[in-house]
Amino acid sequence: QAAAAGSSRYNFEELTWGNDETHHIAEGYDADVLLRWGDPITADAPEFDVMNQTAEAQLKQFGYNNDYVGFTALDDRGDRGLLCVNHEYTNEEVMFPGIGRQDNQNFAAMTKELVDIEMAAHGGSVVEIAKGENGKWALVRDSQYNRRITPLTTEMAIAGPAAGSDRMKTTEDPTGTRVIGTLNNCAGGMTPWGTYLMAEENFHGYFWTDAVDAEGKPDLSAQAEAAQMKRYGVPGLWYNWGQHYDRFNIDKEPNEPNRFGWVVEVDPRDPSAMPIKHTALGRFRHEGCETTVAPSGQLVVYSGDDNRFDYLYKYVSTGTVSDDNAANSALLDDGTLYVARFDEDGTITWMPLVHGEGPLTADNGFASQADVVIDTRIAADLLGATPMDRPEDVQPRGDGTAYVMLTNNTKRTPEQVNAANPRPESSFGHIIEIKEDAGDHAATTGTWSILVKCGDPSLADVGAKWHPETSANGWFGSPDNCAIDADGRLWISTDQGSGWGKTGKSDGLYALETEGEQRGLSRLFFRCPVGGELCGPYFTDDSETLFLAVQHPGTDGTKNYAGFERNSTFEDPATRWPDFDPAMPPRPSVLVVTKQGGGKIAV
Ligand code: FEO
Ligand code: CA
Ligand code: CA
Ligand code: CA
Repeated sequence: QAAAAGSSRYNFEELTWGNDETHHIAEGYDADVLLRWGDPITADAPEFDVMNQTAEAQLKQFGYNNDYVGFTALDDRGDRGLLCVNHEYTNEEVMFPGIGRQDNQNFAAMTKELVDIEMAAHGGSVVEIAKGENGKWALVRDSQYNRRITPLTTEMAIAGPAAGSDRMKTTEDPTGTRVIGTLNNCAGGMTPWGTYLMAEENFHGYFWTDAVDAEGKPDLSAQAEAAQMKRYGVPGLWYNWGQHYDRFNIDKEPNEPNRFGWVVEVDPRDPSAMPIKHTALGRFRHEGCETTVAPSGQLVVYSGDDNRFDYLYKYVSTGTVSDDNAANSALLDDGTLYVARFDEDGTITWMPLVHGEGPLTADNGFASQADVVIDTRIAADLLGATPMDRPEDVQPRGDGTAYVMLTNNTKRTPEQVNAANPRPESSFGHIIEIKEDAGDHAATTGTWSILVKCGDPSLADVGAKWHPETSANGWFGSPDNCAIDADGRLWISTDQGSGWGKTGKSDGLYALETEGEQRGLSRLFFRCPVGGELCGPYFTDDSETLFLAVQHPGTDGTKNYAGFERNSTFEDPATRWPDFDPAMPPRPSVLVVTKQGGGKIAV
């Protein structure tokens, strides 16, 4: 895959940077809207009615804030398949006319009726899609596979070392082996056997307490597990579900937070199969969970903990991948979880989180492997893992390489800088390339290097590092999700959040060269409508289709929707993408990118 000097391995005309009400794609490509929030996805689903939303309807409609997108083919040609989409969170100020932004523990308008709609809009969707004679993908609405997975209704099994632990037991589940639903599903992964992994990220935000101090901060003094809760930011008080559901109130159910922060496996081919929370992969704010297979046949899963100064993890199964899918699923329950230490000399050491080894003993509060996985962060603290600049998506490639998105960390002081996180107050983040020893993803040592330091290369005080031919269009900030296409090439999507004002650029998708003379050269392929964050991206195996997910268009530092009333028109929005209908707010949507006339993307 080495590139000749001066010749790009990505064949497309770079897009011009900017920020406006709609999306833009490089010339010669189509980016078509495939699924929008509220689209009916089952045969019996009602049409979307934004002014008269109900939880019952939302349970049969596409959810909010599409994030991870995965695909598994149902036929040999790959023209039919199941699209698996995470719905990470809800923006009530855009979702519900007239509500405005609810925060600072002021949730007066968030009634149980609206909370139920929010819960029904979280989780995931599995839908069948098929390519028509015109080469365009469309939803197969009457497919038996189409379903929603939500924190309101979907029962899940708990498997692995924490299953049945006393710390997992609640009033509703005295066995510690069953839980309703999944929360804040950010990025994810598809396994080699075609199942869908949903990562639970900012679960802390859904937990509530009535006990607050004079400043309105949670008062944990009555909690037996106060130290453990604090390390995870529980309770976050982002949503008021705990005012309507006891299980989200830690005063009433202090163990419920232990039942979130995991990786969930869903079999998209079997709608009757219960999703499984695999606790061997650890409990933290999993951004994603991308898999690969080591030369030995062992399954390897990479996962970042998206928090300032938190860590990068890897899981290696004990057994090997086979053609027995039940046995494959069990690989996620029996293996070793490691946390990364990045040394100054460019080596990476993966340190095992195993009960009884090193400091992970009863003396330090770890009575069993259940405690190690429930308190993964605390165990990793004791092992001396390297605190990172918010690890987001991690993408392994089959050759023993992995790319780690470190999105930003404005809180790192000059004293806290280390070789792998080299900038203080990093607003724009960086990307690390890991090369596991002998090209083996199961290896416990390897080397690392910084591929790019993000931000505007024309501003000296930003300290960016790109290939010098990277244009004003091509540099980016805050790498978040990433994908590798059929030719082993890296693609990066960005999430600048309200920080987009620092660059003036919409979030987008960039092709980033990793090989040869052009290593570090980035070019812009797609950009979002104003306020939108770009998630996905996902290439089909033939690299002829690329799925992109645009989250929360119209938010993040733009005008919000506080001004409009329920049962009125939506006034003065930053954008009404993708409908551009005065009766519709902007809607998070999944796009499908194809080359005009067909063929592989950017080849
Ligand atoms: Fe859900 Fe780390 O972004
Ligand atoms: Ca993300
Ligand atoms: Ca990815
Ligand atoms: Ca992010």
